[in-house]
Amino acid sequence: MKGPILLSVLFFIFSCDNKTSASVYKTTEYNNFDEKDRIIGESVWATSCFRCHLYGSNGAASLEDEEYWDIISEKELDELFNSVWKGKYGDKGAMPPKGLCNSCSEEQIKKSILYMFQLIETVQQPDSLNK
Ligand code: HEC
Repeated sequence: MKGPILLSVLFFIFSCDNKTSASVYKTTEYNNFDEKDRIIGESVWATSCFRCHLYGSNGAASLEDEEYWDIISEKELDELFNSVWKGKYGDKGAMPPKGLCNSCSEEQIKKSILYMFQLIETVQQPDSLNK
């Protein structure tokens, strides 16, 4: 029962300070993500991002970590892009610049982030597949 309580507390904190509140899931980039984008995003995911984010290795959050991604999905896409592009130190580990995809362009990294949120949504709400 800890999860739901923590989530409501976090939700409360975020709703108090929602001046810049965004949700990745509401952006046009996310909602217009088409098949071509998906192929690009998936190829980056499948060669780089999955190493840490599939099961949550090296201090990263796994796809199933609902509490973590709920918070992250409220950040601006630009901020997320900057974290991945430049790398980010977390409490438990660090993400290397470009999430290890050294040859990736900005566009490829952006698509890999959006693709990852599609995976997260699918893993956490399998019903969304039937929409
Ligand atoms: C070597 C492991 C590793 C790889 C590879 C990796 N990440 Fe990460 N990622 C992390 C860690 C560690 C964090 C920070 C966790 C924290 O904030 O506590 C993180 C955080 C993130 C965040 C949240 C950033 C923020 O601003 O809070 C996103 C989005 C993300 N990763 C996407 C990606 C994408 C997309 C890729 C592939 C291009 C990728 N990651 C590859 C380890 C990795």
